[in-house]
Amino acid sequence: RGGKADSRGALVVLEGLDRCGKTTQSTRLVKNLERVGYSAELWRFPDRTTSVGKMISSYLSNESQLDDHTIHLLFSANRWEKRLVMLFFVVRNLAKIDQDENNVWLQNVLGIISTGQTLVKSLMESKLKSGTTLVVDRYSYSGVAFSSAKGLDIEWCKAPEIGLLAPDLVVYLDIPPEKAAERGGYGGERYEQLEFQKKVGQNYQVLHGPTWKIIDACSSMEEVEEQLQKMVLDCVKTCQEGKPLSCLWS
Ligand code: TYD
Repeated sequence: RGGKADSRGALVVLEGLDRCGKTTQSTRLVKNLERVGYSAELWRFPDRTTSVGKMISSYLSNESQLDDHTIHLLFSANRWEKRLVMLFFVVRNLAKIDQDENNVWLQNVLGIISTGQTLVKSLMESKLKSGTTLVVDRYSYSGVAFSSAKGLDIEWCKAPEIGLLAPDLVVYLDIPPEKAAERGGYGGERYEQLEFQKKVGQNYQVLHGPTWKIIDACSSMEEVEEQLQKMVLDCVKTCQEGKPLSCLWS
């Protein structure tokens, strides 16, 4: 699909309160996109598999205590981490070449990397430019909405996110906090409390912008799925036509 030189995948983010259905819907969305022939991947933040992610996970399950600012920056670092992965792959591949004794070539390439930072593309950007649509379960908006619900200044919360890629579409799965709590399955993690989720909901409102679309998350799963897919397909098409990437907070 596609064909235009600057055709790319879309960066789609799902946001909402805990238990709003993001995880179910993002999984279904990726399957649906693939079924109609698009390349799509599901990402989620926090990514609990990295070493930063493990610190976040232990904090969320109350196994460790961290200052509010510290955990905020760790969540942000967990998003920035996605840049370095690419460098890691490059170096690891070069190391393989080194074993093949292709040393002159290796030295040349390492030289280029150390002088030309542009070679070190973010993993997210590379994926999008290769035509893959990324469906991301939580992003910088969660970072800001949740941390500022603890009383941290909203502008301070936004600052470490500056320069990350801006989503082409943010879908907010809207559910009243009381309804979300009724769904049960609040897993006992730190933020899964009604009063806290109410504040998070209010903070999300402040973040709504032109790229945001809202879906009533109290509708049936099938209705949400259908609306979501329509919105995302529209967005994917605009990105195929070469809509340029931009950075937060534009
Ligand atoms: P998540 O893994 O989506 O929750 P679940 O275990 O229900 O699938 O997110 C874990 C919690 O982390 C969630 O309450 C939202 C919060 N969070 C932040 O506070 N800041 C962030 O930057 C992100 C991505 C999530």
